Amino acid sequence: MQQQDSMVIALSKGRILDDTLPLLAQAGIEPQDDIRKSRKLIFDTNRPEVRLVVLRATDVPTYVSYGVADLGVSGKDVLLENAAENLCEPLDLEIAKCRLMTAGIKGHVPPRRRRRVATKFVNVARQYYAANGVQADLIKLYGGMELAPLMGLAEEIVDIVDTGNTLKANGLEARELIADISSRLIANQAAMKMKYRILAPVIEGLEQAVVARRRQETAT
Ligand code: ATP
Ligand code: PRP
Repeated sequence: MQQQDSMVIALSKGRILDDTLPLLAQAGIEPQDDIRKSRKLIFDTNRPEVRLVVLRATDVPTYVSYGVADLGVSGKDVLLENAAENLCEPLDLEIAKCRLMTAGIKGHVPPRRRRRVATKFVNVARQYYAANGVQADLIKLYGGMELAPLMGLAEEIVDIVDTGNTLKANGLEARELIADISSRLIANQAAMKMKYRILAPVIEGLEQAVVARRRQETAT
């Protein structure tokens, strides 16, 4: 099959994958192996023109940006943090919904003008604090941000909040909302032009799956 007639969709592994697979299935795309169990990274599907690759969430925009994947599924937090070129965002998949927030020890008031902030999202945090006139000394962490205020590493963190249970369990509280997050379908801009004929039906199928899921959720 010519490259023009086939497509690669890059999926984020982890929790986003669990929510993506039912949407893909509803759009008529099903991997031929069990993605969650297999150690494979490239998967054929029931559709001869569609292949799936499973990547670390932060690598998905890179693959789509370079055009080796035509479409991808990425958390908005990842997209905000790692601005990549040649991408467009045709669809909000409305999955893996959460919020990007500042948080700190419950009842503590952070220093007003200058504070130490631990986060995985240093670019987002830099922009956010600058826009709010706070001088933030940013400390890059790769996970477990909640520990930083408890250990005195930082006065504040910028992290994902969903139920708030992780913050609560550690005596922390959410402070300011930075952005509402959900996963987005992203596309390589050149592929959107060159392969529109085969990409459009997949995007449309996913859009219908999102609408069906939304209807189901509001009905229950
Ligand atoms: P990695 O393991 O590659 O470092 P990760 O630990 O951030 O990535 P996940 O925890 O699977 O991977 O999260 C992936 C994405 O899911 C995040 O980028 C965000 O968009 C979303 N997400 C993270 N935490 C939550 C949550 N508690 N509830 C809902 N969505 C979340
Ligand atoms: C994410 C995030 C928070 C937690 C928030 O962590 O980094 O720690 O979820 O969710 P909650 O508000 O519902 O408690 P995750 O479970 O993905 O673990 P990790 O990022 O540390 O791997």
